Amino acid sequence: MNNSRDFAGTVVVVAGGSSGINLGIADAFAAQGARVAVVSRSQQKIDAAVGKLAAHGGEAIGFSADVRDAETVEAALSGIHQAFGDIDVLVSGAAGNFPAPALGMSSNGFATVVDIDLCGTFHVLRSAYPYLARPGASIINISAPQAYVPMAYQVHVCAAKAGVDMVTRVLAMEWGYAGVRVNSVVPGPIEGTEGMKRLSPTPELQQAVADSVPLGRLGTPMDIANTVMFLASPLAGYVTGAIIPVDGGWSLGGASVVGAGMVKAAGKQE
Ligand code: HXC
Ligand code: NAP
Repeated sequence: MNNSRDFAGTVVVVAGGSSGINLGIADAFAAQGARVAVVSRSQQKIDAAVGKLAAHGGEAIGFSADVRDAETVEAALSGIHQAFGDIDVLVSGAAGNFPAPALGMSSNGFATVVDIDLCGTFHVLRSAYPYLARPGASIINISAPQAYVPMAYQVHVCAAKAGVDMVTRVLAMEWGYAGVRVNSVVPGPIEGTEGMKRLSPTPELQQAVADSVPLGRLGTPMDIANTVMFLASPLAGYVTGAIIPVDGGWSLGGASVVGAGMVKAAGKQE
């Protein structure tokens, strides 16, 4: 691997890689010749993703696992290691989200998102470590602006993603001595994704979000993949423990528009 675009033969694992932004990341690596493995729950989504990735001519595989279940995650990572050998790049981006006010959210609703986003990230990184613990390996967690921008109707996601960024920082400290870099990429509002559909379900709301982005547009999965590939490359060889927004400047001020609109529409809560 000589530059930010030469990933021929590189082994890349993307947890939550069967759709949306994460599939876009997996696809960008596959297009550059990487051998890509995706992990998610739905075998149907995995099969479709693997078909898309393999269309670039390289090797692609998929394993079904729920990131909340440490044992199935361990089995998936072990299976990937048996098929592809040591891992060079790990992208961890499995996540769940629904908009709900805290007063309309059960303990299980809160815990479900924390379990997927935060505990899932821990399970994925811990299970992958034995297969990537060597200089040059790179881990990228996919965070969200909710990690540092408080958003109404997102108390579960805000708590979970803030935790994800702390996992990034702590493991950058613990694993830096092995030469493993750990960073977070924080996507802004990305067009055509499940996350955007859930938080801004109408064209009007999506336009309001786009208008609140200093660069004046929604992002694309490729915007995110470009930064992930930079972080995975030797060009970022001295970057670790970084939390990098790729959001057109959205988190500088506009991001709280998502929840604020919902609070206004709902009125006073009892
Ligand atoms: C209130 C809700 C709810 C809602 C679910 N729950 N949806 N509560 N309002 N709209 C509650 C349920 O009632 C239940 O609590 C608990 O959450 C668990 O729900 P399940 O359906 O049993 O969970 P599960 O089948 O495990 O599914 C998890 C999920 C689901 C998160 C609820 O939506 C999912 O699998 N999502 C994955 C895809 C996704 O969300 N992609 C978007 C990621 S975007 P009770 O008490 O009833 O048992 C993102 C950031 C976007 O992360 C940022 C954009 C700027
Ligand atoms: P998405 O398409 O729903 O992607 C989520 C992925 O995670 C899917 O592949 C899903 O596949 C998998 N997944 C969900 N729960 C899982 C579980 N319990 N175990 C294993 N895999 C699981 O959503 P997206 O909008 O593209 O979001 C992708 C990432 O970007 C997330 O980390 C999200 O927080 C972040 N993000 C998104 C936006 C945005 O604008 N969309 C903004 C900021 C951050 P299965 O259903 O098969 O499990």
